[in-house]
Amino acid sequence: MRTEIARPIRLTDYKAPDFRVSDTKLVFDLHPTETKVTATLTLERIGAAEAPLVLLGERLKLLGVSLDGRALETSDYEVTPETLTIGDVPDRFTLDIAVQINPQDNKTLEGLYMSSGRYCTQCEAEGFRKIVYFPDRPDVLSKFTVTVRAPKAGFPYLLSNGNLIDAGEDGDAHYAIWEDPFFKPSYLFALVAGELDVLEDAFTTASGRKVDLKIYVDTGMRERAAYAMDALKRSMRWDEEVYGLEYDLDLFMIVAVRDFNFGAMENKGLNIFNASLLLADPDTVTDLDYERIESVIAHEYFHNWSGNRVTCRDWFQLCLKEGLTVFRDQGFSADMRGDAVQRIKDVKALRARQFPEDAGPLAHPVRPSSYLKIDNFYTATIYEKGAEIVGMLKTYVGPEVYRKALDHYFQTNDGTAATLEDFLKSFEAVTGEDFAPWLKWYVQAGTPHLSITPSYDAETQRLTLALAQVTHPTPAQANKHPVPIPVRLGLLSEDGAPLTFTIDGETVSDTLFVLREAEAELVLEDVAVAPVVSALRRFSAPVKLTLTELDAHKFARFRGDADPFNRWEAAQSLAKDLILSATGTAAAYAEALRATLADDTLDDAFKALIIGLPTEPDLAQILTPVDPAYIHARRSAFKAELSNALFDDIEALYERFEDERLEAQAPFSPDAKSAGRRALRNALLDLMMASHIDADDARREKLNWRAQYHYQLSHNMTDLMAGLNAVAQLHGEDYDGTLEHFYDMFKTEPLVLDKWFAAQAMCANPETLNRVRRLTQHPDFDARVPNRWRAVVQAFAANNPSVFHDVSGQGYDFIADQILLVDKFNPMTAARLVEVFGGFKRYAEPHASLMKAALERILATPDLSKNVSELAGKALAA
Ligand code: ARG
Ligand code: ZN
Repeated sequence: MRTEIARPIRLTDYKAPDFRVSDTKLVFDLHPTETKVTATLTLERIGAAEAPLVLLGERLKLLGVSLDGRALETSDYEVTPETLTIGDVPDRFTLDIAVQINPQDNKTLEGLYMSSGRYCTQCEAEGFRKIVYFPDRPDVLSKFTVTVRAPKAGFPYLLSNGNLIDAGEDGDAHYAIWEDPFFKPSYLFALVAGELDVLEDAFTTASGRKVDLKIYVDTGMRERAAYAMDALKRSMRWDEEVYGLEYDLDLFMIVAVRDFNFGAMENKGLNIFNASLLLADPDTVTDLDYERIESVIAHEYFHNWSGNRVTCRDWFQLCLKEGLTVFRDQGFSADMRGDAVQRIKDVKALRARQFPEDAGPLAHPVRPSSYLKIDNFYTATIYEKGAEIVGMLKTYVGPEVYRKALDHYFQTNDGTAATLEDFLKSFEAVTGEDFAPWLKWYVQAGTPHLSITPSYDAETQRLTLALAQVTHPTPAQANKHPVPIPVRLGLLSEDGAPLTFTIDGETVSDTLFVLREAEAELVLEDVAVAPVVSALRRFSAPVKLTLTELDAHKFARFRGDADPFNRWEAAQSLAKDLILSATGTAAAYAEALRATLADDTLDDAFKALIIGLPTEPDLAQILTPVDPAYIHARRSAFKAELSNALFDDIEALYERFEDERLEAQAPFSPDAKSAGRRALRNALLDLMMASHIDADDARREKLNWRAQYHYQLSHNMTDLMAGLNAVAQLHGEDYDGTLEHFYDMFKTEPLVLDKWFAAQAMCANPETLNRVRRLTQHPDFDARVPNRWRAVVQAFAANNPSVFHDVSGQGYDFIADQILLVDKFNPMTAARLVEVFGGFKRYAEPHASLMKAALERILATPDLSKNVSELAGKALAA
């Protein structure tokens, strides 16, 4: 690999393209090592008269170029490792380009590559330039016609975007011609060729058009595509009903592949999925997998409008499609599975991944201002915080106006490459209001801190709330401005009943206030008794809230906040205080939890969530400096105390569910209610296991028996994994035997083996460090398969904090080695792992120095990719 020169791309340097490509014809002669690609481009000058034509291309072997049918001499153009420049071109012309590429050798999994003997592509963001020379930028939209030619043997299916317009044979080879009638940028191009099984179905759109649906999977896996197909049809219906958006082609295809750098890709009419986010059956995937599959199917389908029909002008606007599409898929999941539970899960994910990003050296705005590799910006900030901003806009304008604004956005920008300003303009158009202040959310990095200080005057029955916001400086952004923060809040009395108040002449128990300046005061009248304040309901803004309140008030909200999100939030906040204070006892907390579990108005999924204590990474966010061993010890001790305090109750409840399950003999259903019941039962099991700390022999024996029994009697992967994790938590004599048993059962199921690897990597036992090293020597381990690599390496670094942060520094060494190893062939995937070192400055010694040393070692390595060097460099520089 040549040493790459770091040259940042800046938003302020954006220039419209000099040429339009009205038509793109591609011909692929597929061959594992010598695929020939010819492109016929119809070009038209739209920029400066003297501008040369600059096409982008990487790792291509140029076979020839001709302009309007005339073959060019090598002196007519200039080729660099990243470009093909033709100096002298007319205003309108046709260009034929032929290149040769090597899909077999392509382990970057970007461009055209081979996976399990099949050809497939990944072009977003800048992979198309590894296929052929092209103006590979999202604001060049073209109409694509694609001919795919391959041997008949081994490649019965030849797929690309749009509609199949012709197919035929040619000796041992055959071909298919695809035409996509919609103008699209090159990042949405896709091609798949090989042996596949297909599950077919159909969908009739609201306007009565029939759409053929086809999901392609590995041979023998057709049945496992049924759930994805069902989720697809529900997504299509939902987008019609909720957003008024209909599908636009006669065919919608999805292909599942095993080797993929991330989750899935929304290529027009031909989505490509990581098989782990598509294949499902009760014996091989968990309820959480079902949930993810449903949401990712929806996400990629929704991109057909938010991303494809309206695309991004440049990659700085990535959140225009990603933030909006995540917000849309969250809305879909909420409608499928319940709003409160979905909201809690989304906020947990935001806090687990985005808040640390915003608080560390890799903090960047939702619309960044510069980058070296855009692939490094497919982050929680772009996706999850981007979704939160759309959510705040909706909260602020209300659901009806939101829908009008979105209608306006899709109508006025259809077929174009848009910007965030265009998005906000639609809100301005339908409200007549200035939305410029909301742009600050997109351009300013960092999580705002919101403080609310209530003071109640019993005499006047007046509650005054002092609100203030501040955002701390982030790298390259020292000065921060106030952002508009929608604060939904309500009151309750100390016994938990909703409490009314008067605001703007209206009597309500809940209101929305928008904090626009650094500080403001909100006055609520006619508050009959000293109130409990429930602020930031449903997490109405992605901020860190400090509410001055008594613990008794938190307990009141834990027991009965009318807003279920804040009920969960109050419990989390109490648990965080109790765990970190080291002096608190679990008694009162246990009582409130007992009451919650007994409350029949709450659903099981909610109860399962409220049983879950704040995670170690959650706690690491509020403890400075971070001491991972202390956090682990304190959390385990608190959990054990809670478990002991509630043991009889949770055991009785657990047994009741178990009897119920054995009696019902109902076939497995992945629906939300059944999944919620399993989640609750498994959460009870997990909490029971926590009492193994300091347990006597009788208790220990009981726990062992329970864990084994749960594992052996499970009838689906959800329960089996819960059993395996219970056995792992005890880490007793039968741990290895259980792992062996699991392995023997699933050794031919790669997706299940990923779970087997990950479960071991996440086991919070000091012995895991050696185990993880051994796992990388396992015959089934292959660092070139991202799913497998992530199952071991990412699972360990991101989800096993107490072992990853072992004081010896060995966890850091191991991860740094892995990053360097994978960077040699798959920089995009390797770079994603650098962030685990990002927050090093916040850690206590010796962690901070050891993490820093790991980053320095990475950065000092010769021939580092741009991807890794950008992130490691930023992590160290800040
Ligand atoms: N657009 C795809 C999605 O929705 C993700 C593509 C990721 N690309 C990348 N280079 N990281 O969700
Ligand atoms: Zn997306």
